[in-house]
Amino acid sequence: MKIVTDIQQMQNYADRCREEKKVIGFVPTMGYLHPGHLSLIKIIRPQCDILVVSIFVNPTQFGPGEDLNTYPRDLKRDSDLCQKEGVDVIFHPSAQEMYPKPFYTFITVEKLSEIMCGRSRPGHFRGVTTVVAKLFNIVKPHLAIFGEKDFQQLQVLKQMVNNLNYDIKILNAPIVREDDGLALSSRNKYLKSHERMDALVLYRSLQLAKDRFTQGERNAGDIKREMEKLIKGIPSAKIDYIEIVNLETFEPVDFLSNDSLVALAVYIGQTRLIDNIVLKK
Ligand code: PAJ
Repeated sequence: MKIVTDIQQMQNYADRCREEKKVIGFVPTMGYLHPGHLSLIKIIRPQCDILVVSIFVNPTQFGPGEDLNTYPRDLKRDSDLCQKEGVDVIFHPSAQEMYPKPFYTFITVEKLSEIMCGRSRPGHFRGVTTVVAKLFNIVKPHLAIFGEKDFQQLQVLKQMVNNLNYDIKILNAPIVREDDGLALSSRNKYLKSHERMDALVLYRSLQLAKDRFTQGERNAGDIKREMEKLIKGIPSAKIDYIEIVNLETFEPVDFLSNDSLVALAVYIGQTRLIDNIVLKK
């Protein structure tokens, strides 16, 4: 397994692979890998010849006062895990390599980036789409995979790929959870021991939404109110948003008549966690 830090070197390698008609698969990450990331690697590995994983904590997707500087990093452990999973290349550039000065060019996916996480984290998706567009131009993959844990990110990136005619197939990976339901996230590391229990309220509130839906409830406002009540019972929890939206358009729905996404962001103490569930008609 190679670790490449230089953009030109990565592009030359990708060109050679393409000349040899090899299929390049790509898993973009910010590192501190957990079984959620590894599930993406396992899904895409059999579908490509050369597998590239990027590890880059992307400064442009963090807002002022967010956790850019404290975001967990452990390249040694990450590379051991990648090696075990049969990854061919880790692309691990520096921030200077990715954002040489002056840097004036950004990509924005309108509308889909303006709600939910986009509303609470202004500029976040602009940073995500810009870095992923750059990574696509550097790694030159035929296919790339993203997790449904970040459902809005996945939809925003699919829209970008579509609108900018990237010739890249995008795969989705289901959410990987702990046995008790907590969605795996690099940020779970921030949770203090008593907060770890409290963090289960995200999953529990989504299960509540699913149960109410299965029982025939279709009023989005009523489902949201029940979720809110459950979450407000946990003292360390503070709701950032709870949204029920159409799965395709991301328009908020009042009545659940088609496939819908229930998505939420909740602070547990200082840690902002997100989770979601799809309710199928
Ligand atoms: P990161 O949070 O490291 O996540 C990398 C990929 O792993 C994303 O596609 C994310 O959805 C997926 N993932 C994370 N936790 C998961 C879980 N529990 N189950 C399934 N998939 C999971 O998302 C990013 O990095 C960045 O925004 C990035 C796309 C790399 C751009 O910087």
